Amino acid sequence: MAEKIIIGSDHGGYKLKNEIIKHLQSEYEVEDLGCYSEESCDYPMIAKAVSQKVIGSNCKGILVCGTGIGMSISANRFKGIRASHCTDTFSARMTRLHNDSNILCLGERITGIGLALDIVDIWLSTPFEGERHKRRVDMIDGKV
Ligand code: RB5
Repeated sequence: MAEKIIIGSDHGGYKLKNEIIKHLQSEYEVEDLGCYSEESCDYPMIAKAVSQKVIGSNCKGILVCGTGIGMSISANRFKGIRASHCTDTFSARMTRLHNDSNILCLGERITGIGLALDIVDIWLSTPFEGERHKRRVDMIDGKV
């Protein structure tokens, strides 16, 4: 069965989100929690919907807004979410290896489509390293 990815954007990330969905849909099941047009909407509401679904399902999530910053600030308010705002592939790899990132945040007005899709591919295919990093990740949620 294909791995499921939960995705969402506001109007500022709508076009890039659709490119990401097109890019992923042959290999992954992609659930799109909105928005569904370029009409102005509120990124915290989309971040909340995706974060809650990621927490409840253990799936990974992707959030896109104009900068990626509003989405990452909003998503990181939810316990269990480790949302990473990435603008380069090194950060995308490291945040999976060391932080067990479970939501990737991208900015349509910052990162071009080619680089954004590379970031998505690297983030999705890089495993968490565990070991000493597991203890540190557990500290984030107050488990240690
Ligand atoms: C919307 O104009 C913009 O503020 C939003 O997409 C995002 O960049 C917020 O951080």
